Amino acid sequence: MECDVQVQESQPAGLSDTSSATGKMLFDFWYPAGLSRALRGQKLVKAMLLGQPLVLGRDVNGRAFAMKDICPHRGIPLSCGRVEGENLECCYHGWKFNVHSGTCTEIPSLTSDSRIRPEKIHATHYPCEERDGYIWVFMAESRSSGVNPPPVPELPIPRSGYRITHLSADLPSNVDHGVIGLMDPAHGPFVHQSWWWRTRRSIHEKQKTFEPVPMGFRIRTHTPSANSGAYKLLRLYGDEITTSIEFTLPNIRIEQIRIGNHWVVNRAVVTPIEQNRCRIDFCAAWNIFPWVPLVKPIFNIFARKFLRQDQGTMEMQAEGLRFNPPLMLIDDADRLGKWYFQLKNAYVRSRKTGLPMEHPLSEPITLRWRS
Ligand code: FES
Ligand SMILES: [Fe+2]
Repeated sequence: MECDVQVQESQPAGLSDTSSATGKMLFDFWYPAGLSRALRGQKLVKAMLLGQPLVLGRDVNGRAFAMKDICPHRGIPLSCGRVEGENLECCYHGWKFNVHSGTCTEIPSLTSDSRIRPEKIHATHYPCEERDGYIWVFMAESRSSGVNPPPVPELPIPRSGYRITHLSADLPSNVDHGVIGLMDPAHGPFVHQSWWWRTRRSIHEKQKTFEPVPMGFRIRTHTPSANSGAYKLLRLYGDEITTSIEFTLPNIRIEQIRIGNHWVVNRAVVTPIEQNRCRIDFCAAWNIFPWVPLVKPIFNIFARKFLRQDQGTMEMQAEGLRFNPPLMLIDDADRLGKWYFQLKNAYVRSRKTGLPMEHPLSEPITLRWRS
């Protein structure tokens, strides 16, 4: 079976070649196109997802929309036009398109006896929803793919009584490298060294049990290891800390930490922007330390530093990747990366054949590594 992403088992045992980590972009999923707060009033905002130029905006009632940023008449970006009620008017010849269906509603140059029916003409339009501070866009493969969008990804948190923050970083690599960088446990003590997080000396052996979930896997709920500063801080709320981390295709990692009624949830999503560019959108929500002033800006300082460490590392990595070197994934520390490629392969295969997706994990499995 021909596939775009391949992990070939090779010798010696425990090593895999990822030289075909091609960064294939998966359509028919929801992706965050930008922040809700960036869409103010009737302003039109350009975005790029999976190599497709988008225009984002709000209709007269404030409802967000997403369309391909290309006028179907003569190709000028629709983002150069303006919103009028529920329509977007192209700046070139004034054609209007309904922002929620893409249907052309008016062609000003037509005479009253014209046989051209504007409603037969469509601009490309994408399902669009706002959730947890993001504009999510369902990137359908093509208008005829007929896939009904699943529910929009949502943070697993109550609807009120918490704080939330959003950060993002551009990464100069294809989505595969972004995702495996996100789930790689072994870089922590080297890339994220700092007095408040961990040092190189804190490296120690870990053992975690993973179980399959639909389209992904999760680390079974467990008590987190003691070597990170953030968890030491959380111990102020008690010793009963539990954490679980879940990854699901195409690109979502969610970590949930609970201490009694208190919780911290963070989510990182790696979104393909173009073939060799992706973006990590990180958001965190919590109901702890409500009395601490400036808790959000303080949190952001640390989280931004953390993200920059990853970003800087991936910028360095991109230098080497330009030469398409063969790469390795080793057991057990890189097993998550292997599963990611296997999941992606299985998904692509099941889309091609129409058969159910074969999950790489058939049962819980315990991995061991040092980090
Ligand atoms: S190019 Fe958009 S209306 Fe002509
Ligand atoms: Fe990292």
